[in-house]
This record gives sequence, structure tokens and C-alpha cells, in this order.
Amino acid sequence: MRVGILGGTGPLGRGLAARLAAAGDEVVLGSRDAARAEDLAAELVGAWPGRDLAVTGADNEGAAACDLVVMATPWDAAVPTVKPLAAALSGKVVVSVANALVKQGREMQALVPARGSVAAAVAAALPGSLVAAAGHHLPAAELADLDASLGSDVLVCSDHPEATAATVDLLGRIPGLRPLDAGSLASAAPIEAFTAVLITVNIRYKAHSSLRLTGLEAAP
Ligand SMILES: NC(=O)c1ccc[n+]([C@@H]2O[C@H](COP(=O)([O-])OP(=O)(O)OC[C@H]3O[C@@H](n4cnc5c(N)ncnc54)[C@H](OP(=O)(O)O)[C@@H]3O)[C@@H](O)[C@H]2O)c1
Repeated sequence: MRVGILGGTGPLGRGLAARLAAAGDEVVLGSRDAARAEDLAAELVGAWPGRDLAVTGADNEGAAACDLVVMATPWDAAVPTVKPLAAALSGKVVVSVANALVKQGREMQALVPARGSVAAAVAAALPGSLVAAAGHHLPAAELADLDASLGSDVLVCSDHPEATAATVDLLGRIPGLRPLDAGSLASAAPIEAFTAVLITVNIRYKAHSSLRLTGLEAAP
């Protein structure tokens, strides 16, 4: 699968790219500046010699041309980034990982974006796409370190069952991640907002906790 990442040059995009490429996907880091994305993709591949990671760089248009596209810009850049790409993204699964947060002292606080969540705003801007939301609680630094083992649940939500299935399939290929179907895109608001709580806990405890739900072991 060719996976494009809009705003893929940031820590989250590069970390996710490393994991997806290690799992066998081809990844295109998208950017407003194709040369910057090419440099960062080459740096990523060079950091893991012998792993044969298929990561390249392009502008965001190049990333949008992939089979499945992840939206990984800052939250307030999400709609301005996807809107001009609506035609290229039509009919495709688009996964929003963005969280609308603001730092206040020693804690992170959740903002309420238009339509209640970044993912809902992205879905409204992309009526022809199958928008899902996922990956909000994944720590970029751990993703980027391919020697670190992951142990996180990933809540996935969408109004399109095929987008949920494709996102669960994609993230489930990364060892240590357990993607879970968390319902319709209405779940994106609490999922995104909970990231503020998680980061605040991490600040208070100087930790790198992520999400793990209990009681699901016997679930089919
Ligand atoms: N960092 C994490 O641990 C983490 C974990 C889970 C989810 N997330 C979410 O994932 C998203 C990306 O996180 P990040 O830490 O990687 O963010 P980031 O570094 O702040 O931004 C990612 C990329 O977005 C592009 N960008 C920045 N401002 C833009 C603008 N005004 N318009 C268009 N593109 C712009 C930049 O790429 P170019 O300059 O190359 O275009 C930048 O490298 C965020 O929404 C965040 O909430 C982050």
C-alpha cells in the first residue's frame, strides 16, 4: 500500500512513516516544500541502514496521490491543507491524527474546533472522501525509534465502515499497536480531547504513557 502523509515532515509524520515502512508499506512524506520532504525522507531512511525502508518525500499534492492518506499537520492547518486537495482525495480513505490543544502552564488543554473535532471539520471539507480519525494518542518519539517496542491501543472512528476497516488494517500491521473500532466520527471529539489529559499526565509524571484499555482480551 502507498501511504501519503500530509504534513509528513513533522515528528508524528516521520515516526508513523518509519513504522509503516518497517511494516512493508511505501510511504510518501508530504510537505509544503518538496525539497524539505525529500531531505527528511532520505535522513529517515539513512538512520535505519539495512531496514530497506521505502520512504520518499514530495509536496502535499504528491502525498495526496497515494492510495491512503494521513492528515498530520497542526490542527489549525488541517482544513486549509486538505481543501485544495479535495479532488485528489476523493474516494480515498483520509485518516486525521490531529489534536486541537493549547498549553497552559504545566498542562495541555483541549480546544473545541469548528464542528466539534478536527476530523469532523476535515470530513466537511472533503465530502467525497472516507474520513477516519485515529492515532491521536501515539507518541511520535516512540514511533520514530524502531528499536522501541510499542504497546498501545489506537482508537479508530469513522462514519464509513470501510474507512474504519482500512485504518484498523493499516495500523494493525505495526507490531505493538492494537487498533480498536471506536464508532462513528462523533467519537473523534472525545478522542481528540482526551489527548490533552494524556499529555498532562505525562508532563506531571515526566512519563511517556499511552492508551491501553482493559477487559477486551476475551473480545472476538
Ligand atoms: N507529535 C506527536 O507526538 C503527536 C502524536 C499524535 C498526534 N499528533 C498530531 O499530529 C499532527 C502532527 O503533529 P507534529 O508534532 O508532527 O506537528 P508539527 O511538527 O507541528 O507539524 C507537522 C507538519 O505540518 C506542516 N505544517 C506546519 N504548519 C503548517 C501550516 N500552517 N500549513 C500547512 N502545513 C503546516 C509542517 O510541514 P512542512 O513545513 O514541511 O509543510 C510540519 O512539519 C498534529 O495535529 C498533532 O496534534 C502529534
